[in-house]
Amino acid sequence: MSNTVAIKLTVNGVERQADVEPRMLLVHFLRERLGLTGTHVGCDTSQCGACAVLVDGAAVKSCTLLAAQADGAEVTTIEHLAREGPLDPVQQAFSDVHALQCGFCTPGMVMATHDLLAHSPRPTDAQIRHGLEGNFCRCTGYHNIVRAVRLAAERMAEHQGRETTAAGG
Ligand code: FES
Ligand code: FES
Repeated sequence: MSNTVAIKLTVNGVERQADVEPRMLLVHFLRERLGLTGTHVGCDTSQCGACAVLVDGAAVKSCTLLAAQADGAEVTTIEHLAREGPLDPVQQAFSDVHALQCGFCTPGMVMATHDLLAHSPRPTDAQIRHGLEGNFCRCTGYHNIVRAVRLAAERMAEHQGRETTAAGG
């Protein structure tokens, strides 16, 4: 009897097929099979959020999901955000207001922020703190992370406003 399962999923826009052990975690599949080491492992208790990726658009701790459970899903990791060169708006905002120090938590923070802003394009500080409560940072004290998310939200709203105006909306 085979002790692997065949999975097919899309990771950062590329279709991937693989045979994986049923117990392989998505985070290990991403890091070890695909070499996408921007997704970090910061704990073994599903608490820190360093491993957050988007699965079908929702931020998920990839250490809480089996690779086999992601079969058929669309997964986005931090590597996909700046693939065309410049940082994406969330990454840029984190950089601009010094919302990172060691940077270990940052990929997970950025992916969780994308999920947050998709649902709350103009969040209050309380909503930002609530939205990122599953992501731990040992360095920054969170203050600048909240500022970064607010800044990213403002810039994304401005950008969208310009696009709407240009389209005659
Ligand atoms: S490594 Fe996934 S929550 Fe910490
Ligand atoms: S910047 Fe070091 S853990 Fe957040």
